Amino acid sequence: MTKTRAAITGVQGYVPDYILTNKELVTMVDTNDEWIVSRTGVKERRILKGEGKGSSELGAGAIKGLLEKTNIAAEDIDLIICATATPDMIFPATACIIADKVGAKNAFAYDLMAACSGFLYALSTASKFIETGTYKKVIVVGADKMSSIVDYTDRATCIIFGDGAGAVMLEPTEDGLGIQDAILRSDGSGREFLHMKAGGSAKPSTHETVDAREHFIFQDGQLVFKAAVKSMADVSEEIMKKNNLTADDIAWLVPHQANKRIIDATARRMGVGDEKVMLNIQKYGNTTNGTIPLCLWEWESKLNKGDNIILAAFGGGFTWGSIYLKWAYDSNK
Ligand code: UT7
Repeated sequence: MTKTRAAITGVQGYVPDYILTNKELVTMVDTNDEWIVSRTGVKERRILKGEGKGSSELGAGAIKGLLEKTNIAAEDIDLIICATATPDMIFPATACIIADKVGAKNAFAYDLMAACSGFLYALSTASKFIETGTYKKVIVVGADKMSSIVDYTDRATCIIFGDGAGAVMLEPTEDGLGIQDAILRSDGSGREFLHMKAGGSAKPSTHETVDAREHFIFQDGQLVFKAAVKSMADVSEEIMKKNNLTADDIAWLVPHQANKRIIDATARRMGVGDEKVMLNIQKYGNTTNGTIPLCLWEWESKLNKGDNIILAAFGGGFTWGSIYLKWAYDSNK
């Protein structure tokens, strides 16, 4: 019997207009362009401005574009999973707000939280709904307004993050293409090294938590860096071995864009040359759940049917993982 797989049949990104350059950051914190570029690879990032605008604004922007280009009616969407670390509010789910904004009246919608690995977790989850034949049209959207939780007085974190979103359409295919395999991991003992200290149920917001600046990202950069390099490289190598893939078989590596040095280390371990690595950290920084679909969107015209693609990410939790897929359509037609 032919196996039903979940294939990405469209991808669309959305980034806000405002560009926060390294030059402007230098006027905000004690840093310089040379340090930021050499240590992270980031040159500029996008920031969502405007009262009352949250991650749903970004996610809805991506999905509206996706529906238009795939020529699929919003009413035909069965499910929307939104991967986000910066929901519009603690509840309800940002996915519900997005579904309302795009007119996906027949979809059920929920959020998935796995920090920077959220898009991979969501893609894997969504693929199961398709593989089992339960649903035919599922959208996975990664959306984060990181500027809402970045401390712009902390030079070690504010230089990295940016706002953005990307969405993919998943549909069933029986031709051997689509999502082939996923290896997903987590280790909660790493939680204290990358987290937001207050605002959740363990430490609800108070005047004191606000005064202590506990509603921003806290990151032990060096420790996270080391864990990210090891875990992302390990899991990417593992998925290659498990699927008998050599570096020559791989058309593209799509890494989470957290730090160019982490990306370089992962590619080196896989034996994949720079020319096969999607990299846009210089333009957008780390958009958390937006990074991987934003890469796919920007490279879409270069992707060919049958291309072997490895997605890889590492993030807070700790969470990390890798997905192997075969691209399902020729985009440059
Ligand atoms: O996506 C989720 C997962 N997150 C990640 O993967 C991020 C992982 N971590 C990183 O990318 C890096 O650790 C950072 C980019 C956050 C920091 O880079 P680093 O090379 O690890 O720097 P560091 O924290 O070890 O700091 C080195 C020096 C320090 O000065 P001293 O103590 O050596 O005098 C810092 O104070 O660089 C200094 N520094 C800066 N200098 C200029 C830290 N931030 C800055 C800055 N500009 N923005």
